Amino acid sequence: MSSREMRKVCIVGASGKLGTYMIRHALERGYEVVGVCREQSVGKLDEFAGRITVVPGRTNDPDVIKQAVAGCDGVLVVLVPWGVHDYASGTAQAVLDHAEPGARLVFSCGWHITRDGKDQYSRTFRATVAAISALARLARLVDVRDQVRACDRIFASDTLWTVVRGSDLEEGESQGLPVWSRHVGDPVLASNITRRIDFALFMVEALVNDELIREAPAIVGCRTESALAHAAAR
Ligand SMILES: NC(=O)c1ccc[n+]([C@@H]2O[C@H](COP(=O)([O-])OP(=O)(O)OC[C@H]3O[C@@H](n4cnc5c(N)ncnc54)[C@H](OP(=O)(O)O)[C@@H]3O)[C@@H](O)[C@H]2O)c1
Repeated sequence: MSSREMRKVCIVGASGKLGTYMIRHALERGYEVVGVCREQSVGKLDEFAGRITVVPGRTNDPDVIKQAVAGCDGVLVVLVPWGVHDYASGTAQAVLDHAEPGARLVFSCGWHITRDGKDQYSRTFRATVAAISALARLARLVDVRDQVRACDRIFASDTLWTVVRGSDLEEGESQGLPVWSRHVGDPVLASNITRRIDFALFMVEALVNDELIREAPAIVGCRTESALAHAAAR
């Protein structure tokens, strides 16, 4: 699937739920792992002590990212738009600016991000995103538009990027590699649910899947009703 050898990977946003699942998948593949997380969250990575290198700091700090991604063949990024100070776009820009030339860059976001405007969202989905975005912005907690700006920068870049767009997420044991489609609204995605552990699996597998370079796959669990119906129809 890939001509690239993956030896060392950086996980930006390593201390969250998705981040820790990605660490486990990366270690299982024998990769050397460098994790970036905020200073106050370093303790959340204690279970990996001695097995990964942790670079503490804010993920939108170019100096922190420059240090963390040095020598990495791949970079996995949890792209959350915390606060109203361009956290997501700052994080994306730091990774785009400082990753090694030729490194695989894999970013995470939700279905609401669109690359070419051809995604078909249900009225309920649109209303939910609009309501959550407005409330979060009012509370100055999250600025979804910042994640949109971050992804626009990635789409415009000439790096080897993939933007993985996750459906609604749930916890639970792995069901296997999620299936994907280019556009939300495609029938295979209708179930709109993915196990978080499998979202992480898709991110880590994307590092060595050249078919996903400069793609923005929207994913769904491979054991969901819509994915199984799609597989049966084929
Ligand atoms: N429906 C959904 O929820 C959905 C769907 C698809 C995709 N996604 C994507 O999934 C990813 C998040 O996944 P997750 O499950 O890992 O969430 P999570 O466990 O809540 O982690 C989110 C990340 O945000 C950081 N964070 C939390 N509060 C922060 C703050 N005030 N300032 C800066 N950073 C802060 C966390 O770091 P600390 O450990 O330092 O707190 C962690 O790295 C995002 O990329 C999101 O776009 C979500």
